[in-house]
Amino acid sequence: MKKIQKYRFNYLGYDINKLKLIGQGREGKVYLLPDDKVLKVFHNSNSCTRQIEILLKVQNSRFFPTVFNFDNYSIIMSFVYGSTLSFYLKRNNINKHLSLELVRLIDEFKKLNFAKLDMRLGHIFLQPDETVKVIDPRGSYERKQPYPRSMLHGLQKRGDLKDFFHYIKYDYPDYYKYWKKMMS
Ligand SMILES: Nc1ncnc2c1ncn2[C@@H]1O[C@H](COP(=O)(O)OP(=O)(O)O)[C@@H](O)[C@H]1O
Ligand SMILES: [Mg+2]
Repeated sequence: MKKIQKYRFNYLGYDINKLKLIGQGREGKVYLLPDDKVLKVFHNSNSCTRQIEILLKVQNSRFFPTVFNFDNYSIIMSFVYGSTLSFYLKRNNINKHLSLELVRLIDEFKKLNFAKLDMRLGHIFLQPDETVKVIDPRGSYERKQPYPRSMLHGLQKRGDLKDFFHYIKYDYPDYYKYWKKMMS
């Protein structure tokens, strides 16, 4: 009898046994590739398709990784440098530059017609040049969330929400008022 191949190792021309695993979430595993790229391999083809659909729509935005290739189960995209805000804010306080950058991120979601104007701190990376990028967008066009609920709760949990509101107040008065109301 022919032996059934139970596990697949080859994705988009790469043998994942030969790659360094750099991250893992509920939906997949992420491996380091040469040339500042990563290979994300999904457990489930539907979640891969859903993520690809979002990432392809936002390729003109500076806030998302660049997609180089994909198939039903995997995506090759640019490596995002820096640390997540959930990590960074444990050791550092928020500042004005970062606060405004976070509003620009949510404002970009709005311009991209996302239904979900939110991203949790663990998926927002502060890069060495002090701009932010997000990874792992999910439900962006489906789940309705009119304000950045989990982002603001993350800031609150780390004691940075008050400063955040203070820093954005004059540049983004409308967001300031609306978000503050939602968090009160
Ligand atoms: N483009 C990327 N650049 C750098 N690290 C990444 C990238 N994509 C994912 N990672 C790392 O891999 C981890 C898991 O990836 P993620 O996309 O969140 O998977 P899942 O969909 O399973 O939650 C992330 O928390 C992050 O540390
Ligand atoms: Mg994730």
